[in-house]
Amino acid sequence: MSHPPTLRATRVLPADAAGIAEAARVLVSGGLVALPTETVYGLACDATDPRAVASLYAAKGRPSFNPLIAHIPDVAAARRVGELAPAAAALAALFWPGPLTLVVPAIADATCDLARAGLGSVALRVPAHPVAQAVLRAAGRPIAAPSANRSGHVSPTSAAHVLADLDGRIDLILDAGPCAVGVESTILDCTGATPVLLRPGGLPREEIEAALGATLASHASSVEAAGSEAAPLAPGMLASHYAPSVPVRLDAHELTPGEALLTFAGARPPGTSAASLVRDLSPAGDLVEAAARLFALLRELDGSGASAIAVVPLPRHGLGEAIADRLRRAAAPRPA
Ligand code: TXA
Ligand code: MG
Repeated sequence: MSHPPTLRATRVLPADAAGIAEAARVLVSGGLVALPTETVYGLACDATDPRAVASLYAAKGRPSFNPLIAHIPDVAAARRVGELAPAAAALAALFWPGPLTLVVPAIADATCDLARAGLGSVALRVPAHPVAQAVLRAAGRPIAAPSANRSGHVSPTSAAHVLADLDGRIDLILDAGPCAVGVESTILDCTGATPVLLRPGGLPREEIEAALGATLASHASSVEAAGSEAAPLAPGMLASHYAPSVPVRLDAHELTPGEALLTFAGARPPGTSAASLVRDLSPAGDLVEAAARLFALLRELDGSGASAIAVVPLPRHGLGEAIADRLRRAAAPRPA
């Protein structure tokens, strides 16, 4: 399905004016650039260029049935790529730029079929990060950008994470330091009568529900949908999408010797003293901080030589929903 990736010299540049100009130049000539966004680093390419999109799938080792989010700098650019019905336009006006992706009917030929995996809908996102904004404006076309990790790995929240996964497979990494939000955007399907939550993410459900004045339907609750690989609803949300290499044990109330501990708000369950390594998502019990640190700490614990990662029970409100979703995927058994 995907051909082997071309060997590339991967450059890392600071995200200053020269770096931004170079990123736009590489993008419009069909190359692959890792960009900071406020959620996670994205691996960007020209969403109108099927050759560029094919090389992006190859670099990620991603199954090509997985559609990509089209990134644009503002609502006006979004309207050239997808149809914003009144409900979608209202959400866009409230939450863009920001960590919200809207799935809407696609405008034919505004993005290539491969970027949409042949779907008649398109996922639209206007990122808030100033570097992403500047690159999108300079490139002047929709930019496809999945998270800049190898398929199956956790999303990168620093340039170093990107380099660890994709060195030699992409052309350029713009380094703007760690991502502020730390989990991917919230995805809403706006193709039907009422918006449906496809992926919990960096914009908490509560904020969307307050804006809608209604409870947000989850597609068969994305919790269960996460396990069904037959008809995944955000097609990239396979259960094992975020799997570290060692087992992840959720809702741990005690530690088994040899395990590493991912904890929250200073919790120290029985057996903690025998843990191989202890990391706290947020000693102060702040879910925003916890989301921002989640993927970096999963990577650190995964690489520490522990036999497994035990995770204490975590709150489920606000960004806790997205954190719980990513941890559930991290704990899911991987396909053979
Ligand atoms: O925060 C984010 O959204 C990051 C940054 C880089 O922008 N991007 C990101 O992209 O998380 P990715 O490719 O890792 O996840 C995009 C998700 C996938 O689960 C994909 O299946 C879903 O969006 N998706 C894309 N187009 C879709 C569509 N037309 N209908 C339903 N789901 C779609
Ligand atoms: Mg991803």
